[in-house]
Amino acid sequence: MSRKRFPKGVSGPESDPRLARIDALNDDGRGVARVDGKVTFIDGALPGELVRYRVLKGKRNFDQGDLVEVVEASPHRVAPACEYFGVCGGCSLQHLDAAAQIVEKEQVLRDKLRQFGGVEPEGWLPPLTGPVWGYRRSARLGVRNVPKKGGIIIGFRERRSSYLTPLRNCHTLDSRVARLLPALIELISGISRNDRLPQIEAACGDDEMALVFRHLEPLMPDDLARLAAFGRDHGVRVYLQPKGPESVTPLEPADPSPLVYRLPEFDIAIHFQPADFIQVNAGINRRMVAQAIDLLDPQPDERVVDLFCGLGNFTLPLARRAARVTGVEAERRLVLGARDNAARNGIANAEFRQVDLYDEAQARDFWASASFDKLLIDPPRSGAMEVLKLLPETGPRRLVYVSCNPATLARDCEYLVNSLGYRLVRIGVMDMFPHTNHVESIAVFEPA
Ligand SMILES: C[S@@+](CC[C@H](N)C(=O)[O-])C[C@H]1O[C@@H](n2cnc3c(N)ncnc32)[C@H](O)[C@@H]1O
Repeated sequence: MSRKRFPKGVSGPESDPRLARIDALNDDGRGVARVDGKVTFIDGALPGELVRYRVLKGKRNFDQGDLVEVVEASPHRVAPACEYFGVCGGCSLQHLDAAAQIVEKEQVLRDKLRQFGGVEPEGWLPPLTGPVWGYRRSARLGVRNVPKKGGIIIGFRERRSSYLTPLRNCHTLDSRVARLLPALIELISGISRNDRLPQIEAACGDDEMALVFRHLEPLMPDDLARLAAFGRDHGVRVYLQPKGPESVTPLEPADPSPLVYRLPEFDIAIHFQPADFIQVNAGINRRMVAQAIDLLDPQPDERVVDLFCGLGNFTLPLARRAARVTGVEAERRLVLGARDNAARNGIANAEFRQVDLYDEAQARDFWASASFDKLLIDPPRSGAMEVLKLLPETGPRRLVYVSCNPATLARDCEYLVNSLGYRLVRIGVMDMFPHTNHVESIAVFEPA
């Protein structure tokens, strides 16, 4: 930004602190400005704002700035709800109103599509929104014993740091988990080797919730008794995890039934174990599943493939509408869980196959034996290029792509449109992670 664009009476960029007009937000929620031709990222600054900032780190291609003062505030600036905002890495957008967050996320998606091959969607879907607080039904909380900071700390990482934020509350966590934070700090403080207990994973079903305590050393009988008593006192299922996710075992009660979330529109109940992947936001998940199925519009005589299917979150509702559905998933535990869910829901027209879709030979074998009319994909952050590259020549007559990473979605869109001849019919964002910079989106493709 040139000096002459600054309002009268305000000092120019050579003074410290400097002034900048913010053009946009970057991927991690920082304001982006051009100051004397150099890109500058300023934490806490919003698009349209004039801010005063100090250069924190000057690099050859960009500067990083620390916000000193908002000189002209955005009309969308709001007071963050959380006392830890700015320190805690869990959220990055609480200072922007919820409607404007969605506009920003749509812009991120639009920019990524342009950046990767200039794909323009034929239309935009209205954003899917829901409650913006208390939505996080699964979360991984770090635990550390830091005597200098008063003992046990439970929380998310601080922004751009490996330290934990000492949380006593969190507005984005499911309130059933958030309200336990002070009691959890007390509980862990009384555990003998609490320096060897690095993580607590919370998982909430519609009715019940579970806490999984990761521990690196065997726990003493007293510790086990404390954890079990905590579970009984707070009505929480307690699990222990001495190693990887497959080592999760119940402590209290000793033989719990699985957790459950429901998709009432499809009369489906998904049973899950506390370490299983589930979509973080229950309300948005319900609406997302309904929208994905509306968009795919499976007919009673059609066969559908659901890639990266997890526990059958989309597969089982699809089975209510389609002739036959095949869910494909790499993790054996989830494949078995999906089969179990099909049986529990009385669904006989869904099958589940264990395939590593990033393994070329396995993906090729799968496609060689698959027959389908329509396709749904919901890959992890790394996207679906490997599997799209191997798509049979007679591809789906419609494809719905659910994505948690706009960069890989845009890359895969470019391939679908420019190499496989699909049209990007519609695309839209879903507010799966309010106040964070995560962009969840859904796109529909049809052959050109
Ligand atoms: C974003 S989750 C979606 C799960 C499911 N569709 C849902 O809505 O709950 C992505 C899923 O892809 C699975 N996955 C990751 N890598 C995979 C691979 N190489 N092949 C097949 N599935 C994989 C994960 O285990 C996870 O269940």
